[in-house]
Amino acid sequence: MMISRGLYGTLWILSCFGLFLSEDLQISGPTNGAVGGSVVFAPDNLPNTSIITVQWHFGSTVILTGPLDSLIIVPAYRDRVSFDRNTFALELWNLRLEDSGIYRLTVLTSAGGQLTGETSLVFENITNVRVIGPEESLIEAESSANFSSEGTGIITSVQWMKDNRPLSPSNSIIFSSDHRSVSISPVQRSDSGEYQCTYRNPASSQTAKPVRLIINYGPEDVSVKGEDVVDLGVRVSLSCSANSEPAASFSWKFNETDTNVTTDTFTINETDFTHSGDYICTASNNVTKRNASHKHTLTVKVGGGGGRGGGLSSGAIAGIVIGVLVAVAGICGLTVYLTKTKKIPKINLGQHGPARGAAQSRQEPDLNYADISHFQKAGERVNLGNTSESSTEYAEVKPGGKSRAPPPPYGHQVRT
Ligand SMILES: *[C@@H]1O[C@H](CO)[C@@H](O)[C@H](O)[C@H]1NC(C)=O
Ligand SMILES: *[C@@H]1O[C@H](CO)[C@@H](O)[C@H](O)[C@H]1NC(C)=O
Ligand SMILES: *[C@@H]1O[C@H](CO)[C@@H](O)[C@H](O)[C@H]1NC(C)=O
Ligand SMILES: *[C@@H]1O[C@H](CO)[C@@H](O)[C@H](O)[C@H]1NC(C)=O
Ligand SMILES: *[C@@H]1O[C@H](CO)[C@@H](O)[C@H](O)[C@H]1NC(C)=O
Ligand SMILES: *[C@@H]1O[C@H](CO)[C@@H](O)[C@H](O)[C@H]1NC(C)=O
Ligand SMILES: *[C@@H]1O[C@H](CO)[C@@H](O)[C@H](O)[C@H]1NC(C)=O
Ligand SMILES: *[C@@H]1O[C@H](CO)[C@@H](O)[C@H](O)[C@H]1NC(C)=O
Repeated sequence: MMISRGLYGTLWILSCFGLFLSEDLQISGPTNGAVGGSVVFAPDNLPNTSIITVQWHFGSTVILTGPLDSLIIVPAYRDRVSFDRNTFALELWNLRLEDSGIYRLTVLTSAGGQLTGETSLVFENITNVRVIGPEESLIEAESSANFSSEGTGIITSVQWMKDNRPLSPSNSIIFSSDHRSVSISPVQRSDSGEYQCTYRNPASSQTAKPVRLIINYGPEDVSVKGEDVVDLGVRVSLSCSANSEPAASFSWKFNETDTNVTTDTFTINETDFTHSGDYICTASNNVTKRNASHKHTLTVKVGGGGGRGGGLSSGAIAGIVIGVLVAVAGICGLTVYLTKTKKIPKINLGQHGPARGAAQSRQEPDLNYADISHFQKAGERVNLGNTSESSTEYAEVKPGGKSRAPPPPYGHQVRT
């Protein structure tokens, strides 16, 4: 009983509201708005009895109300709304996001009827944004690349990105005035990457799928790695490399004769004297249609290679240099150690003691100073650093110098 009474009550209330809000006025919609733009809400039909009052609402907010001859627009809408007395159309401009929602027109007729109609304002999301990139092969310094973009919705800004970083205009990167397209001319290899753009309006944004741009270049920096001098009867590999996009293909000539070898490595299984000569690797790029070569001279001789009279590889030379340096450093370290621990007679390295340098130099006549005479400017007399210069100090004195000359004052050393 309770339930059916409740249900009945609900239905009664709904039917009352249904009557009250009966939509007798048709207003097409929803309408797409753009922030900053304008919309017009106009009823498709009008009552033909005379009108007492008209009201436009946004949600529960009154926009305008009153009899046709003395309508009042509320202050909040006064400067961005207009009303057409003949069509009852409401125009709203300077749209903002908060304007999205339901707009309702209510009309009271002289016959006592109330007619209403509703429509809504929505801000359309941006969709279907895509980037269209160049289709042809692009060659560095020759080609230009044009990107265009498209998408639906009201767009207030377009942002381009390359490899997820904003793309900025430059001498070679030029945006169209609406920023919907970009032209890169001429392209450089650094322009390779993924391009995409984001369309925005205050209500939404959408980013296009990235489009990859490949800039073809090269070949350049062709080089052949391999031994220069080898022994008889050994296996030799020469390997060729090049900087190229796409990867270069290789061909080898020996003494100007084609070898039919088209890999990056030229291998001789067992050297004999006929293998001496010039090996020319040509790297070719089938997109740029360019090629570049590098010549490598191989000498086969008895005892060649392996460091036996055939010259040292740069690696071996580096190893020897490092070994010598390590040995020298070790000897120096050992000398300092033995001196400090007084295992060999003191030869007075350095002068960090409290004694003034001048005084000490007099006491220690065997000190070895670096030859600093060439530091002297012409006309400046070398102070022989003796007795009277009690304020003289020496920053650092290295052992091993040949000059026996006593040091000049410190100031002279730095003023060079
Ligand atoms: C408008 O008035 C005409 C007669 O003038 C009448 O036939 C018609 O039904 C009326 N329409 C409405 C919607 O009241
Ligand atoms: C627009 O996108 C937002 C999220 O970005 C979403 O909440 C909203 O429902 C979308 N509106 C429409 C009309 O699709
Ligand atoms: C790119 O666009 C510029 C100007 O918009 C045009 O001059 C050029 O020919 C275009 N390049 C390509 C490859 O379409
Ligand atoms: C390369 O191949 C061609 C035929 O394919 C052959 O006539 C020529 O002798 C070959 N050259 C060498 C150096 O092997
Ligand atoms: C070199 O040796 C490999 C196998 O180690 C062989 O396949 C190749 O044919 C040989 N090349 C020549 C030129 O003899
Ligand atoms: C290749 O050229 C070098 C030097 O130009 C020459 O000494 C050698 O004999 C040549 N080898 C052959 C097989 O022609
Ligand atoms: C270039 O060579 C590669 C194989 O090395 C091939 O797949 C590609 O189609 C070639 N491109 C052109 C433009 O010839
Ligand atoms: C290299 O390019 C030149 C012209 O630029 C052409 O004559 C030659 O055949 C090319 N060489 C190779 C190995 O492709």
